[in-house]
Amino acid sequence: MPPMPKSLRFRLLKCLVLAALIALALYFYEKHGGTLPGKPSRLLPAELYKQISPSSYTYLLNQPDLCHNRKPFLMLMIPVTLQDSESRTAIRKTWGQENLLQNVDIARVFFVGEPRDHDPELQEDLQKESLAYRDIVQMSFRDTYQNLTIKTMMMMNWVSIFCRSTQYVMKIDSDIFLNVPYLVDYLQNKPKHNYITGSVISDGRPRRNPKSKWYLSAEMYPENLFPPYLSGAGYVFSVDLAKKISMASKFVRPISMEDVYIGMCLHFLHVQPEFAWTWLPYRNLFEIRHLDYNRCTFSKRIIVTGFSSMDLMNMWADFQDGLHQLSYTVML
Ligand SMILES: *[C@@H]1O[C@H](CO)[C@@H](O)[C@H](O)[C@H]1NC(C)=O
Repeated sequence: MPPMPKSLRFRLLKCLVLAALIALALYFYEKHGGTLPGKPSRLLPAELYKQISPSSYTYLLNQPDLCHNRKPFLMLMIPVTLQDSESRTAIRKTWGQENLLQNVDIARVFFVGEPRDHDPELQEDLQKESLAYRDIVQMSFRDTYQNLTIKTMMMMNWVSIFCRSTQYVMKIDSDIFLNVPYLVDYLQNKPKHNYITGSVISDGRPRRNPKSKWYLSAEMYPENLFPPYLSGAGYVFSVDLAKKISMASKFVRPISMEDVYIGMCLHFLHVQPEFAWTWLPYRNLFEIRHLDYNRCTFSKRIIVTGFSSMDLMNMWADFQDGLHQLSYTVML
């Protein structure tokens, strides 16, 4: 091959350098194309903090002895509404059942608030259910979508007071499929402090359209970018973070999007959420798309979202058959 003329070589080099510079500029624009909140350093005004502070509410039902003389490896915290008894039943019979894995202690608590309209009969049923299963914690705030941040802060506070002996905590919604053995296996070599993992969203921005379900005024949140946060469907963290997040909430102005709010608290604490994924093939282990059930696909995910109680029960029978065939010892 004849040597390339010098001028052509030079032009080629120039093109390459230019392309590299453009790529670099795009990369930085993507990464820093918005402003993140500065780190607040002052306590919130008392009236603002009062809205989300668990000390503003009282326990109507509690399980203070759940972790007494016990060191769970994992505590599952599931926000539900009082009326959601069907989901609680399905969870107790599927991924939330006691003694699912030999040698791994996993605990479970459901968190509820108060319904919009007080219903003495429903409340009585809940009390009976709480006595029977000892897995319900209820606080005296109004249980609405906009109040989910209160519920999440209540969960953080509860676990940091009543179950500090657990190693990891998972916040998980009730309409989720959870692959417990895979999760336990995944956590074996993970850090025991300042660790939080799930499906990380790093390009979230506030919606400024007042008609949006997620509308956030510039007054409530002036920056145009959210710090990285974990999808609220399900995330897992080392128990130390529960107390640190509770502490951070005294400084971070509350917003109603609870998953973004936890992200803001983590940002305040300088804790970087870890994206749970595998390479070759690429898989988001905390799957936030809905996938149709398939034993093989689901055995390679930690969570998959969007199932009714009926779906969960139906899938679980088949999934558990598969687990028995594999045997837990191979998976762990
Ligand atoms: C949130 O809970 C508080 C305390 O119970 C209540 O006063 C408020 O109305 C609730 N907010 C919404 C939007 O439901």
